[in-house]
Amino acid sequence: MCYDCTPSEDLGRTAASRRTFARFLAAGAGLTVLAACTPNAPGAAAPSSGTPSGSPSLSPSPFASPIATPEPTTAAPPPPEPSPTPSPSSALPRQFSLTDPASPWLVVNKHRPLVPADYVPADLVRPAVSMTVSGEAALLNSTTAAAAEALFAVAARDGVAMVLASAYRSYGTQVTTYNGYVASRGQADADTASARPGYSEHQSGWAFDIADGGGACGFQPCFADQPAAMWAKANGHRFGFVVRYPWMFHPITGYYYEPWHLRYIGVDAATDMAARGIFTLEEYFGVGPAPGYP
Ligand code: DAL
Ligand code: ZN
Repeated sequence: MCYDCTPSEDLGRTAASRRTFARFLAAGAGLTVLAACTPNAPGAAAPSSGTPSGSPSLSPSPFASPIATPEPTTAAPPPPEPSPTPSPSSALPRQFSLTDPASPWLVVNKHRPLVPADYVPADLVRPAVSMTVSGEAALLNSTTAAAAEALFAVAARDGVAMVLASAYRSYGTQVTTYNGYVASRGQADADTASARPGYSEHQSGWAFDIADGGGACGFQPCFADQPAAMWAKANGHRFGFVVRYPWMFHPITGYYYEPWHLRYIGVDAATDMAARGIFTLEEYFGVGPAPGYP
């Protein structure tokens, strides 16, 4: 998502990023360091909002997480619900669905669309955090909203100013967002930065984008070096978040580095990923890479 990228900024970054990509290829890395910025359109009608009730629920479970039970890389038909019995490759049982959009372990990527495509979270609320957005873009599902409030509060306590820069996007908003991106950069480039309608974590309510308190490097590669990004990367797991599209993992995730995009999966799973040094949900949950649309 990029609320503040002008077309010229986008194009300039694209050209620079392509040069960077070429250098990486020349170096034999075979990967790129592009970060991308999805142009956004004004949202659709805003659902009602409010603050989540009760204490923040930072973990979907009191148990540690399982990993890597391979499953099909397509979303239809949905795989069976997880077994409570650990698989040979998992230390612990899988606890939540990987396909239900209401599950904190939902894995949505280019091989795994949201089902239904026009899914709308039933519990969208407006977290009580600093933000630069309004309307639907200020909403999250209630679990993620509570975790975001805790994350922002502790970041502030640590002296790190962070703002919410983009949260929920409806299917309709994603249509406009993606189409705008295609119009400005072409479909191939758009697909490295913006999910197609029905394929975005933002539509699930489990993800949001952050910006630095001063707005520096918003939705740009240099955001990775801003205090908000560095703090979130180091501490996000304590609140159940992962940086969903990490550096150099686009052959697995399908998207270039987005140090601003945080995804809630629960404290146990996020902490387990960090402890194991696993950076992508695809690897952690064993669903296989999704570099492009089938
Ligand atoms: N920028 C991420 C991939 C999205 O559009 O959901
Ligand atoms: Zn995002």
